[in-house]
Amino acid sequence: MVFADDWERRQYNETTHTRVDTVSEAVAVARSAPAPMVKAPNEGPRKPRLSIATGDESSDADAGTLAVTWSSARGDDASPAVRWWREDPPGVRTSDVVVTKATTYTYERDDLCGAPANASGYRDPGRIHRAALTGIDRATTRFVVYELIDSRGGLYPPAGEPRLRARVPPPAGAHLEDGIWKEKENKKDSSRPVSVAMFADMGRGTDDDSVTWNEYGSPAFNTSNALTNAAGNMDIDAAFLFGDVSYATGYQSVWDDYLEMISPWAAAVPFLVNPGNHEYDYTRDDWPSSRDGGDANPKYIADVYGGADSGGECGVPTKRLLPMGISDTHGRTVSPPGTWITSIGPIALVSMNTEVDFRSGSVQWRWLNKALGGINRTEVSLFYFNSRVGNWTDVVFCLQTPWVLFAGHRPGLVDSDWGKSCLGVDPAGDDRSWTCGPKKVKSDEGNEGEDVRDASDVGVALEFQAHVWPLLVKHDVTAVFSGHNHVYQRHCAFDPGREGSGIDSHLDSIRNLGPGEDPDDEARAQYGKAGGCVARPRKIEEQKKIEQNDSADDSSDTTTWWVYDAPTAPVSLVVGSAGAGFTKNSRFSLSKGTETCEFCEVVMYEFGYLRVTSVNVTHLKCEFIETQKSAGRGKVLDRFYITRNEEPGADMGKHPEHPDAEKLKGNWEMARGWEYVAGACAVVAFVAFFMLDVFVPKDTVMPYVALDSGGPAFGNGEDAALMDNEV
Ligand SMILES: [Fe+2]
Repeated sequence: MVFADDWERRQYNETTHTRVDTVSEAVAVARSAPAPMVKAPNEGPRKPRLSIATGDESSDADAGTLAVTWSSARGDDASPAVRWWREDPPGVRTSDVVVTKATTYTYERDDLCGAPANASGYRDPGRIHRAALTGIDRATTRFVVYELIDSRGGLYPPAGEPRLRARVPPPAGAHLEDGIWKEKENKKDSSRPVSVAMFADMGRGTDDDSVTWNEYGSPAFNTSNALTNAAGNMDIDAAFLFGDVSYATGYQSVWDDYLEMISPWAAAVPFLVNPGNHEYDYTRDDWPSSRDGGDANPKYIADVYGGADSGGECGVPTKRLLPMGISDTHGRTVSPPGTWITSIGPIALVSMNTEVDFRSGSVQWRWLNKALGGINRTEVSLFYFNSRVGNWTDVVFCLQTPWVLFAGHRPGLVDSDWGKSCLGVDPAGDDRSWTCGPKKVKSDEGNEGEDVRDASDVGVALEFQAHVWPLLVKHDVTAVFSGHNHVYQRHCAFDPGREGSGIDSHLDSIRNLGPGEDPDDEARAQYGKAGGCVARPRKIEEQKKIEQNDSADDSSDTTTWWVYDAPTAPVSLVVGSAGAGFTKNSRFSLSKGTETCEFCEVVMYEFGYLRVTSVNVTHLKCEFIETQKSAGRGKVLDRFYITRNEEPGADMGKHPEHPDAEKLKGNWEMARGWEYVAGACAVVAFVAFFMLDVFVPKDTVMPYVALDSGGPAFGNGEDAALMDNEV
């Protein structure tokens, strides 16, 4: 069947200026002869994707190890399993072959909230299989090779094709035992950088001329191919997509195609997701009655916006097809839906779900506060004072992650006029006057009596800034990521609570909003003022390396980097650029590039992802990799560093009473550069954190470490000499 190509136009509602993804009046303009589907050859395992185990895969699953998820048309009676072994170097098997039986499940039409997901968009998703590769030591295992099998001859990849090869990400960084850094035998890749691809708003693409679903065509496809190259070249250790994943919006066939598209890279590195509006949102009356399960059963918390953006999915396909979460030892999910915390080497990743209530005191807010507070940063991992016994306590602490990347789908800060203040807006003189004020679905349209929140960019950001942003500052989050606006934006290091930010005097009133109440125009008028910027980056020029692959159309012999020097608030980024058509609500776009917002450093309408690399404990390197125009060359369009000053032992002199102070300091020198010992004991760290009465406050401030000693990215003193304090 071929449909008319005006789908996008007819979806656009001229009255509300919104696009409705559930318009049903598609016009067929051609029809093929019936094409019988050949079932049998496609029944076996397909669509492998890696993730981090949640602990509920099986009774002996190790939370934090790798897990494989895949799909087939065969149930548990076919004994689906993953057969895997270690290989290092490639082609040399270094372990026994292990067969791990999968847990099998699915979702039915009745599991979905509404149309089209449980109506015209529904088709049997088949069976979903999941197995944890229990027993892998992420500290010592670099590569796992695997294949998917079942008892009916199912085999993926098919015979004759290369087996699947997973790059095992290192665990959280360090292990402190009895106050002494201990290195473990057989440590792997002890000094290599660790990278995570960060992006949102992808979609299902195509490589031909057809216009695919929601016109998210070649960009999503090209981004997927770029990620395949990055995984193959070992440029990334994991990928994190923060919302608006496939844009299936209720059509299972799109999920099927999407999973086929991503499996070349998602089978090679862990693929971590959280839900966006197009996975989660639906009219609140249609959510399951158990939606307000609270702490005991937070699986079904309804979204707060009440729109129809998920097409009736209500997050179910995302959670089942790409599971993430935190489970307790009984396999029960203990984090609110779409929230989780994990570590990829020295990088802690924290996921929030912007679609459910995140206001102070909510289930999600309390979980985020606890999760962020439990992250063991380098400076607090060494010194713990137990006031109960009045002395230093020797604690085995393992989770050491100097970098904390926090991501949710909707932005807490974005250059957008969607929901701007209506003060001073002249409908006659402002052709974007209709964008001012709250944007919310009517409470009587399937949301009777509900506390429906403002879904506009400014409205969401103000509530985010009032409730969530203080947690990010308090817990020293390195960077906060979002999508939803389909654009790449890099902002200053931002703290709305900074005195003089403008919005600071409105945050309390926003926190006190009642059900159905929205931030007023006075507050909206103070949104995103430059006073919220606690730090702006400075510019440095680095001599271009010969092998740098983006120099073909750039005659300059230097490369520009921007450096955020140890900011005291998170750097803000919008990376909604992985494939979905651009959202041009920014001042930069509306002025046609002549002006930009006060807190913006970069606004770009380009497709790509941000590669975030932990160089060492003081330098985090970030590169925006373009994926659409540069034909797979991965041209880097934006480069910046975020630095931090703290090192374990830097404040040693402040705590001379610690018996191992000097020893610790010396051992830190030995251990720096990721020559850490593996610690699969995040749980121990988490529990220990809450058992202790006092931990030493973060007061370690070393002089700024010159970039030329910062790691491999700045290999010699000449580069540092080129620093230019322009900003
Ligand atoms: Fe979105």
